[in-house]
Amino acid sequence: MKILGIESSCDETAASIVEKKGSSFEILSSVISSQVRVHAKYGGVIPEVAARLHVGNILPIIDTTLKEAKTKMKDIDYIAVCSGPGLVSSLMIGVETAKTLAWAYNKKLIKVNHIEGHMLSGEGTSGQKLKFPALALIVSGGHTQIILMKDYLKYKLIGTTLDDAVGEAFDKVAKILDLGYPGGPAISKISEKVKNKNFDIKLPRPMLNKPTFDMSFSGLKTACLYAFRDLKEKYPESKWPRIKKELATEFEESAVDVLVTRTLKAAEQYNVKTVVLGGGVSANKKLRTNLAEAVEAKLDKVRVIVPEMEFTGDNAAMIAIAGSYHVKTKDFIDPFKLKANPNWELV
Ligand code: KG4
Ligand code: ZN
Repeated sequence: MKILGIESSCDETAASIVEKKGSSFEILSSVISSQVRVHAKYGGVIPEVAARLHVGNILPIIDTTLKEAKTKMKDIDYIAVCSGPGLVSSLMIGVETAKTLAWAYNKKLIKVNHIEGHMLSGEGTSGQKLKFPALALIVSGGHTQIILMKDYLKYKLIGTTLDDAVGEAFDKVAKILDLGYPGGPAISKISEKVKNKNFDIKLPRPMLNKPTFDMSFSGLKTACLYAFRDLKEKYPESKWPRIKKELATEFEESAVDVLVTRTLKAAEQYNVKTVVLGGGVSANKKLRTNLAEAVEAKLDKVRVIVPEMEFTGDNAAMIAIAGSYHVKTKDFIDPFKLKANPNWELV
């Protein structure tokens, strides 16, 4: 079974060909065109600009992915497209392209939720099979969710952020500290070099003692803002670059602590066999390491699955992989009926 996946929900235009052989996946090609350099100038994604760039990129990206996979449209069995959640003007470009291709080449069309793509990216790209029940920690620029996976396609939301997504908090803290955009990669690059702290910086670990699995990152971001303001008053300007680095490191440690603690508690309570990580923030080394170490130390026989680095952020392989599970249930959609759904909640 060969699936063409298409993803355009935010600022990455992506297409991929994935072949499913039995229960394993072979990623024949995965092409991603990131607009990050364009949006960096503005410190965030400008929807109008993103949509225009998607229009120009989408067909060349699909052409390239077909060529790299040495595949022709006639050999494609299904087309899977991300139709939400995301920016409506960005989603529309991928969705309209997929609809047109499905109609013109008479292919079955599958709509895929972006979050489901991130949930199945770990399994599909690492080659490690999920054992159910499983727990997914989805950490991206728009979502922070702990989802119980009873089986493929059977999901239940266990915990979520009550305010900012963790990726959004990384981006905002980087803005406060003037570390560049996107903030996640900038902060983690800096923190890797900070081995010990010279300044007395301690940020809170929000909601750790609450009985639910919900999280909050907005207060942490504000705490960072005030800590930076106070430290700037206390120390001469020559110390500020080092203060920024230590604050960024402490922020990352706090966010990772919250995510790992919550996930571990949920994994224990729901007796899961697998913990799977997904979304842009799953590229964070501290998160990957600390989660794996905590699970190994505290939970017996629980496996941790993380996506390969190139499949942590938005990509179309994860859309094709998730789409393959909808083939089994014949969850196809008439190309004339599919619409982008920017607020599509998976769970
Ligand atoms: O999944 P994604 O590519 O797009 C959305 O679906 O939102 O996630 C993007 C987010 C951004 O907030 C970015 O700062 C964050 O992922 N991110 C990271 C790292 N790499 C990307 N956050 C922390 N550490 C990283 N290494
Ligand atoms: Zn994403």
